[in-house]
Amino acid sequence: MSNLLSISDLSLDEIIELLDMADELKAKRASGMVVEMLKNKSLAMIFEKSSTRTRISFEVAMNELGGHPLYLNYRDLQLGRGETVGDTAQVMSRYVHGIMARVNSHSTLEELGEYANVPVINALSDLEHPCQLLADLMTIREYKGRLEGLKFAWIGDGNNVCNSAILAAVITGMQMSVACPEGYEPDKDIVEQAREMGGSVEIVSDPKDAAGNADILYTDVWISMGDEGEKEQRLHDLGPYQINDALLDVAKDDVMVLHCLPAHRGEEITNEVLTGPHSAILDEAENRLHAQKALLIKLMGST
Ligand code: CP
Ligand code: NVA
Repeated sequence: MSNLLSISDLSLDEIIELLDMADELKAKRASGMVVEMLKNKSLAMIFEKSSTRTRISFEVAMNELGGHPLYLNYRDLQLGRGETVGDTAQVMSRYVHGIMARVNSHSTLEELGEYANVPVINALSDLEHPCQLLADLMTIREYKGRLEGLKFAWIGDGNNVCNSAILAAVITGMQMSVACPEGYEPDKDIVEQAREMGGSVEIVSDPKDAAGNADILYTDVWISMGDEGEKEQRLHDLGPYQINDALLDVAKDDVMVLHCLPAHRGEEITNEVLTGPHSAILDEAENRLHAQKALLIKLMGST
């Protein structure tokens, strides 16, 4: 693994290795131990879109590992004035030891990966959000003690996070069920890729069919960054796909609820569920830090 553009760039063994390392880093941080494994290493962080969790967790991860994060707003770079992605990637590779980018189009990441001589990390694209899923897998393992054999239900928009969730579930041996309205299905190629890997992926229209007997219920905003122009239509179409107490009732008694955040209470999830006893959202958000530290060490430790 030299880049992380898709969660499927990681094998099951690599995922388990990262999760084990992330658990260890979390325990060390809790005990006050300093782990400066990226001393003098720099990470360029290019953002074309807003971020709270991703930006902060990567910045803190690099700082705590003894390295230096560089927050680079796309508009402040010459990239925003027409410099090519290829030139940017090649020049940055002369300065930094890794590049992470949050982009509008996944093809920008592929281009960065093609031209950069240092590892490239997908910090969210229109197609995938692999760093989120690493933290989610870590959180699921913390709560359930295992990954294999669990039923993972995605409720709502078949978006970028859903695409990565499908691949992550299949790689780790979970059974994936997606409930979404017509026209909001996850990426066809990704579903095909997951099924070719031998995974169990069902796409249904009734949220109760997906949530039935589920170990994990996961949702995300109905209006992702870039979808703002479709707001009214999306609110209408996705209305029946809310995670609420009625949906929790059909899932397993010990179901855990995940949401990558930011959340829109009263839309994709009720405030009661988001803040209720089944919710793991704050551990999930915290685990971004630990999982990404493991990823950065693995990718940049020897650059
Ligand atoms: N979940 C997530 O990636 O959050 P941000 O958009 O705040 O980074
Ligand atoms: N699907 C959301 C995720 C935000 C972390 C978006 O792309 O805006």
